[in-house]
Amino acid sequence: METELGHFLRRLQEISQAMLYTTEARELHVVLDRIAHAAKELAGTRYAALGVPDGQGGLRYFRTAGMTPEEIAMIDHLPRGHGLIGAIMTERRVIRLSSIQSDKRSSGFPPHHPPMTSFLGVPVQAGTQLYGMLYLCDKRNGEPFDEFDELIVQTVASYAALAISGAEVANQSRQIQLLEERERIGMALHDGVIQSLYGIGMQVNALRGLPEVSEETLSEIVHSLDDVIEDIRGFISQLMTRRTADNLRAVLEQAIKRVILPPQVLVELHLPPVPLNMPADHIDSLALMVREAVSNAARHANPSRIQVFAEVVKNRILINIYDDGRGFESDHARDQAEQGKGGMGLMNMHQRAQAMGGSIVVDSAPGKGTHVLIMVPNAPLNS
Ligand SMILES: Nc1ncnc2c1ncn2[C@@H]1O[C@H](COP(=O)(O)OP(=O)(O)O)[C@@H](O)[C@H]1O
Ligand SMILES: [Mg+2]
Repeated sequence: METELGHFLRRLQEISQAMLYTTEARELHVVLDRIAHAAKELAGTRYAALGVPDGQGGLRYFRTAGMTPEEIAMIDHLPRGHGLIGAIMTERRVIRLSSIQSDKRSSGFPPHHPPMTSFLGVPVQAGTQLYGMLYLCDKRNGEPFDEFDELIVQTVASYAALAISGAEVANQSRQIQLLEERERIGMALHDGVIQSLYGIGMQVNALRGLPEVSEETLSEIVHSLDDVIEDIRGFISQLMTRRTADNLRAVLEQAIKRVILPPQVLVELHLPPVPLNMPADHIDSLALMVREAVSNAARHANPSRIQVFAEVVKNRILINIYDDGRGFESDHARDQAEQGKGGMGLMNMHQRAQAMGGSIVVDSAPGKGTHVLIMVPNAPLNS
């Protein structure tokens, strides 16, 4: 014959197993549903419900187990947090009743609510934090709730507090991820699409006043527009990976090729074909930083020459972008960027470099030309 202790340990094991399953859901309402179902099974009742307070005396969630969807649909509102439902929330202690109707805190059932008789309600809390209220009604064997049921349901409630707080933390970090994702897409749009469109605009502008536009020029412009459309498609499908190679030269050549340059500018590239050993999004970022720097030189500097010199020093990649154009107050520009004024391009470059564990330095002054140094780590192969 099984000892009482053996029986109790087995119940505990059942509870942990059932509650573990509740934590595996991603969405809070699914976690709540699973808790309500687990509580109903573990306590052997006909009905269970789990309420989550909204912090203003009402309920943010009320999830039930044991009632059919038809029964739920018949009741014209969810509990508002009065009566016994609210009593657990405000008193924060166990309430165990053999008859709901005879307790003065009961506010009665709304029309079409199935009849329920016995009641066991426990707060779901960890420390002083109240995560919810667990309600059980009507044991299937018809008996009233006893101390043992109370112990079981309190154990369930402790696990439920962990499950709910876990789901809330997961939800918060998902929201942070979404924000970061939005920012990333915004940056990519600026650095990629808007730059390209601007360049094409310049190209079209240059055609103004020309007596005649060649077929060749037009098809060049159409090609550039096709490239932009392709970029946008890439963003939409979250595929920023139209890379054909992952070596430094190929990546940067492709990035620079997409900058539209005034015709008189001489571009000099020194790009060693070293393998890039970094995550794909870092490679994208690197390409966009170089493209922004070259595009700034083309748009703002009116240079006769742009040089891009890359070198690998130990496990770092250094990319120098020089132009001999008009230059600008780089310190002033950075101050402006930090205050949210001025352009997004330089600020994005700083952020991208930082996110990769690197940095950029912009050295410029009016009349002096501009030097942008991008430094990012490149992990050695096989490390
Ligand atoms: N290579 C450069 N030569 C001259 N001026 C530059 C250069 N790069 C940036 N600038 C100046 O810094 C400003 C901010 O640049 P950026 O943040 O990329 O914004 P945007 O290109 O959108 O204007 C530019 O508007 C321009 O005045
Ligand atoms: Mg710019």
